[in-house]
Amino acid sequence: MSTIKGFSKLSRTDKIAWLAKHFLTSNPLDIAREFSSFMHNSAETQRLFDGISENTLTNFYMPYGVAPNFVINGRAYVIPMVIEESSVVAAAASGAKFWSERGGFNAEVVSTKKVGHVHFIWSGDGDALVEFFNSTKQILKDGVKDLIANMEARGGGLLDIELIDCTHLEDDYYQLKGTFETCDAMGANFINSVLEEFARILESEIAVYPIFSGRERSVEIVMSILSNYTPESLVKAWVECPVEQLGAFDDAGLDAKRFAKRFTTAVKIANVDPSRATTHNKGIFNGIDAVVLATGNDFRAIEACGHTYAARNGSYSSLTKASVKEGIFRFEIEIPLAVGTVGGLTRLHPLSKRSLEMLGNPSARDLMKIMACVGLSQNFAAVKALVTSGIQKGHMKMHLTNILNHFNATEKEIERAIQYFADKTVSHSGVRDYLFKIRG
Ligand code: MEV
Repeated sequence: MSTIKGFSKLSRTDKIAWLAKHFLTSNPLDIAREFSSFMHNSAETQRLFDGISENTLTNFYMPYGVAPNFVINGRAYVIPMVIEESSVVAAAASGAKFWSERGGFNAEVVSTKKVGHVHFIWSGDGDALVEFFNSTKQILKDGVKDLIANMEARGGGLLDIELIDCTHLEDDYYQLKGTFETCDAMGANFINSVLEEFARILESEIAVYPIFSGRERSVEIVMSILSNYTPESLVKAWVECPVEQLGAFDDAGLDAKRFAKRFTTAVKIANVDPSRATTHNKGIFNGIDAVVLATGNDFRAIEACGHTYAARNGSYSSLTKASVKEGIFRFEIEIPLAVGTVGGLTRLHPLSKRSLEMLGNPSARDLMKIMACVGLSQNFAAVKALVTSGIQKGHMKMHLTNILNHFNATEKEIERAIQYFADKTVSHSGVRDYLFKIRG
């Protein structure tokens, strides 16, 4: 099959026809009907969704749920969550309920700086470059005045520009590093525009700088881009209570003290073993990503940053810590979360707008705190289950409906199966056999 040209310009029907001809086996009309059935019934809203991405054929639905009973810094929240994995919302809510009865979550933002770089190659004299940078810094700042005026009016802007010598990493490699405050915006477009302007100014100022001669003027801009690693967009959240208030975990035969010990050991294991840390942190992102998606933020950026942060000390480890000191159990998370509550999809997607309203139209700082608490709650619920009843009991119960749907169970059959499996272990074959039996 030859490469297709101008695919993006084809109509939706023609795109589907091409797809059906080359990659699908069903009739194009059936595929078109199926895709149409997932489209929005308002043409205007569908246009909005189509415009968010490219070559859009239909919409891909994800469940949108809420987790109640979050108390964060003394305020009650219900958390919107978009997630495809059964049991995540239930786990977040159970962690929230547990801690709402023990003082709730505490959270504070440590810092909100973001950074970006102009990566460039300079094969001239390094000291001369430093001198050039020092005398050109103000020109760089003046050159982006118009670009940053709006952000400055909102209380943010450019905080600093630095020249970084990276020649120990790669021959002739330097960076211009910009540090930014982007207030309630995630700020990617703002930062990238400023960086690209820095690159233009750098090139043009080097070309006329008096002390450089001949080949020393040669600067090659490699790229200008924000960094999704934002260790200075940092938030902390924690829960704590006297150990005895943790209660007893009868199904596992653990009293509060033994539970606290086992729980802190499980978190320590995630601190020292990257293999466990990956799953442990995955559980944290189960919750955080779900809120990131529900509020129209960029989950790839949040994930990439979180994992880099988890490896900042040279080995991948847990984003949470647990301790018992002087009879107090404490569980905490420290995580970089560069999120926005304006710009991007946050106010464009009708449901992210609704999610933000549900959260009381938070500032970006407040949203950072909320997300950190959801991550902590999710991790608490997961580790609590792991060290007591095990994860499968709850998981498979939640998964039961998926298995039943797989076998096209009717509403009546689902009802009967839920009752039947209430005190039994759920498995794919177990559900199949049960349906087989009741269907005669
Ligand atoms: C499953 O999506 C997440 C867990 O595996 C997290 C964990 O193991 O901590 C339950």
